[in-house]
Amino acid sequence: MFRFGILTVSTTCSQHPEKDTAGPKLEGEIITSFPQSRVTFKKIVADDKRQIVNALTDVVNDVVNPCDVLFTVGGTGFAPSDVTPEATREVIEKEAVGLVHAIISKSLAVTDMAMLSRPVCGIRKKTIIVNFPGSAKAASECFHFVKNALPHAIALLR
Ligand code: MTE
Repeated sequence: MFRFGILTVSTTCSQHPEKDTAGPKLEGEIITSFPQSRVTFKKIVADDKRQIVNALTDVVNDVVNPCDVLFTVGGTGFAPSDVTPEATREVIEKEAVGLVHAIISKSLAVTDMAMLSRPVCGIRKKTIIVNFPGSAKAASECFHFVKNALPHAIALLR
């Protein structure tokens, strides 16, 4: 049984949660791909480095409700407000460049705009943190690009 978390990073969605389409879409893809899994954490925060760092740290330190994989959705682009990669880099202990490579290279096969995403992936304690772009389409695509490696990745950390 795998435990997943989804942190939507969007100032708009933090004020209007009903506008978050990417988080629910990703949750559906997770459950469809891993029917035995559970999404144990869902939250929306603004594009604010401190809020993102705090949310990621809370999940990683939660021994009652642990997450094997924590996906962030949004805030990976070039806009001044996009700080999800910088927040993630503050939290991770080890980088997972292979996940980044998979996300970027497979996304480039879909759209040239993939080069405008700056995902950071890594490990803190026993949790794998993975940055996805913010649209429902992009988050869903990127999940499918990495999902086959996740069971082995989780097993290696247990
Ligand atoms: N990756 C995939 N697979 N599919 C997409 O549609 N959109 C791109 C890119 N990565 C996209 C993608 C676009 S248009 C942008 S601007 C960047 O992700 C950054 O998105 P973000 O700022 O919402 O994180």
